[in-house]
Amino acid sequence: ETVEWEAASYDMGGHDTYMHKEMHEQAEAVDRVLRGRIEDRFATVRLGGLNLDAREARSIRRVKILGCGTSYHAGMVGAQMIEELARIPADAEPASEFRYRNPVVDPDTLYIAVSQSGETYDVLAAVQELKRKGARVLGVVNVVGSAIARETDGGIYVHAGPEVCVVSTKCFTNTTVAFALLALHLGRIRDLSVADGKRIIEGLRRLPEQIAEILRGEDEIRKLAGEFAHASSMMFIGRVRGYPVAREASLKLKEITYIHAEAYPASELKHGPLALIEPDMPTVAIVPSDDLLEKNRAALEEIKARSGRILAVSHAVQEKADHTILVPQNEPELDPILMGIPLQLLAYFTAKELDRDIDKPRNLAKSVTVE
Ligand code: G6P
Repeated sequence: ETVEWEAASYDMGGHDTYMHKEMHEQAEAVDRVLRGRIEDRFATVRLGGLNLDAREARSIRRVKILGCGTSYHAGMVGAQMIEELARIPADAEPASEFRYRNPVVDPDTLYIAVSQSGETYDVLAAVQELKRKGARVLGVVNVVGSAIARETDGGIYVHAGPEVCVVSTKCFTNTTVAFALLALHLGRIRDLSVADGKRIIEGLRRLPEQIAEILRGEDEIRKLAGEFAHASSMMFIGRVRGYPVAREASLKLKEITYIHAEAYPASELKHGPLALIEPDMPTVAIVPSDDLLEKNRAALEEIKARSGRILAVSHAVQEKADHTILVPQNEPELDPILMGIPLQLLAYFTAKELDRDIDKPRNLAKSVTVE
């Protein structure tokens, strides 16, 4: 059983697919998730639907984020933001795994359910199980009034607008921005300074224009796609903030091109997957100019030494890479929001090259409302 969008009334606006249209809506979508929420006076954000007062926010000792597919990956990004900005231990887990392992439900943990549709059964069932055990559960949801939005104690609407393409692009981006808002909010109630709060707010305000800039560069990515369309397999690597970006990029490629792809933390390469590296297995590396830059460069060298081809997504040209896709730099904590966007485009143009049914990949549904 699946939920289909009523696409008839949703115009493609001159794009060849909904995916292309939705990728190109990301600058305005991010503008929407920010709108009315920034509170400059206190260097924080206002999240009206959260239902979590300052005293409660201070008493949280752990954050557990639950979702499926792309929403799970957005949750991985969110967990890192919360841990970095609010210094609350946080992690993400697939909702189905959580539900089936009889988890310890702890009153000091804030649970967050992430879902574009708000109807994914595994996520909804996890929410219901948590509620039954007395936990506090928030939702980070796109579809207003959906089941998960209704059953949670409060939350944040991500305001990405309707997403028709089975694979999620603009909702992923908006969900990561919503998590940045939550992390900032929790951080400013706890130990994040005014100066850091301002720095993050300025970074958030730069996002829409930076996203538009990435999208304007799509022709360059179109040209690269031809090179990867005939790879039988691809490796995606990233470290810490770059790792969920690698995971999501690898998922996107699999979903719409049917090319096998793996994602690994760059540091894990030497513990196994390096054995796979050869000229026919290209690597996409997420290489932000942050404090892990030198470590990431070392990984590129290891791959190059095994004749692996490398496409880097970076803030600066990477010498060891065969190609670098340049992404505008923001605050390091917000890098994951931007670095995945060129890789949505790469998956898209690779799928075009292979003549795939991009909006409706085989075997997949937009929303899985059964177990
Ligand atoms: C399905 C879709 C994925 C999506 C996942 C979670 O498997 O094919 O693209 O990420 O469900 O959907 P949700 O609506 O909960 O974000």
